[in-house]
Amino acid sequence: MADRPRLTTSAGAPLASNQNSKTVGANGPVLLEDYQLIEKLAHQNRERIPERVVHAKGWGAYGTLTVTEDVSKYTRAKALQPGTKTEMLARFSTVAGEQGAADAERDVRGFSLKFYTEEGNWDLVGNNTPVFFVADPYKFPDFIHTQKRHPRTNMRSATAMWDFWSLCPESLHQVTILMSDRGLPVSPMHMNGYGSHTFSLWNDAGERYWVKFHFKTRQGHKHLTNEEAVEVVGNSRETYQEQLFGSIEDGQFPKWDMYIQVMPEMEAEEFEKKTGWSAFDLTKVWPHGDYPLIKVGELELNRNPDNYFAEIEQSAFNPSNVVPGIGFSPDKMLQGRLFSYPDAHRYRIGTHYESLEVNKPRCPVAHYHRDGTMPFGLKTNPDAYYEPNSFGGPVEDPSVEEPPHRYAGQVGRHEYRANADHYSQPRALFTMFDAGQRDRLFRNIAGAMAGVPSEIVERQLGHFEKIDPAYAEGVRTAIAAHAEDNPSASTSHAAE
Ligand code: NDP
Ligand code: HEM
Repeated sequence: MADRPRLTTSAGAPLASNQNSKTVGANGPVLLEDYQLIEKLAHQNRERIPERVVHAKGWGAYGTLTVTEDVSKYTRAKALQPGTKTEMLARFSTVAGEQGAADAERDVRGFSLKFYTEEGNWDLVGNNTPVFFVADPYKFPDFIHTQKRHPRTNMRSATAMWDFWSLCPESLHQVTILMSDRGLPVSPMHMNGYGSHTFSLWNDAGERYWVKFHFKTRQGHKHLTNEEAVEVVGNSRETYQEQLFGSIEDGQFPKWDMYIQVMPEMEAEEFEKKTGWSAFDLTKVWPHGDYPLIKVGELELNRNPDNYFAEIEQSAFNPSNVVPGIGFSPDKMLQGRLFSYPDAHRYRIGTHYESLEVNKPRCPVAHYHRDGTMPFGLKTNPDAYYEPNSFGGPVEDPSVEEPPHRYAGQVGRHEYRANADHYSQPRALFTMFDAGQRDRLFRNIAGAMAGVPSEIVERQLGHFEKIDPAYAEGVRTAIAAHAEDNPSASTSHAAE
């Protein structure tokens, strides 16, 4: 006992008992003056913060990015200079499930990285897929509604998902990945990560390059079939947490090789003319044949957080956190996300979420934001509380100004869906699948379509047909087989 710290109230006063409430006689009632009882109950009522509106279930760990190659001709970012090691945090997640969802569910996985660089935090908030379901942030809330619960049944709705996907063929590429083997990795260690969007890099000479970020797993790709996942979830709903946490506790540190694809700024137009794809369309990749992967370094996860809530639940990853040498692109989805994440953080965590230890930059921070709830850690110069001032307040640094973007065009709500090619890239992917992969793809889709009204199924099969007649045919056959094996599963209730 002697070497243990003394228990105190949250105001620091020593506490005589943490076992018995203050009561009138041994059998009660309790007194209102037992403030420590009230404090304890009131505190408990405030233990939960809102879960993330998407990507609520997650697993995370700290690590290091080590740059082993020289990519300095593309970027002046300090964290990307040869030999640099940067402390970082990773959080992996599923998209649709709530905080208590089982880990081994078929879903896209989030792949969020926060690099604590010497010039501020750089967050890369990507997924384990190089593309996404929609190409315009206007459609993101609609898409997410189809992934969450139906308002009346309070169940996930296969009808809503396939209705939306079949009406938004830009989703075909991502849907094909989701329903393929890679849609259900065994653990976060057994999947790749992608920045997915096109970002930009700029160098000391003020030259800009468009860039895609890739993290390739060194653990190898490992996946579960739907049948295996049923068994896994029956035994444990926390397999990702067990494996990531356990592996790091055991000193087995997972690693990823980091690569970039680079496109000189002025080549984007030519790329679009040649391929028909915009370099800024999030439903498309840049073919490796045209833009080969360039090695940057390696990412290693090597330290578990001590407090899941403080360090993973309250972590705030934000695509608008870039550092000098790294910038955005015109990708509409990225532009939408630049607003959405810090807005979510202010609501979910609070105004000063960036002062929390996990989110705090590991470099000096000096700005003129004032006040707000709990502005802890804000260092103030009492006279320099506005800018410009004559009292020694922080001043801007023009040397970190990024080169200007060359944007021109007609303002309007430009039609995208009807004009874009939604089929060539999913076709390239489908062509890569061997017979076994195709068979599992067909069966996964058939299972996911159970109960969906036939007009929606037919509309979706029409899109598969345009990718490859063998794709549509395979799914059609698998649907028939699924219906035969599960006669009760194929009846549909309105919008379930
Ligand atoms: P490449 O053959 O040069 O590259 C194929 C890529 O596909 C590799 O990155 C590989 O990742 C990945 N891949 C392999 N099997 C699967 C799978 N079952 N599910 C998802 N990804 C897989 O071809 P291209 O660059 O010309 O692209 C062809 C298609 O590959 C694209 O249309 C796209 O669907 C897919 N792809 C392309 C990527 C890109 O950035 N170009 C990235 C990821 C997928 P790995 O090396 O880890 O196995
Ligand atoms: C989480 C919005 C597209 C990956 C979130 C959150 C919001 C959001 C509000 C919760 C943030 C929080 O509470 O901390 C959006 C919007 C999008 C979009 C509006 C489109 C316009 C994407 C895309 C990707 C992605 C394209 C991947 C390429 C993630 C990840 C998380 C997340 C990984 C979890 C972050 C974490 O680990 O804390 N998104 N999102 N999102 N999103 Fe998106």
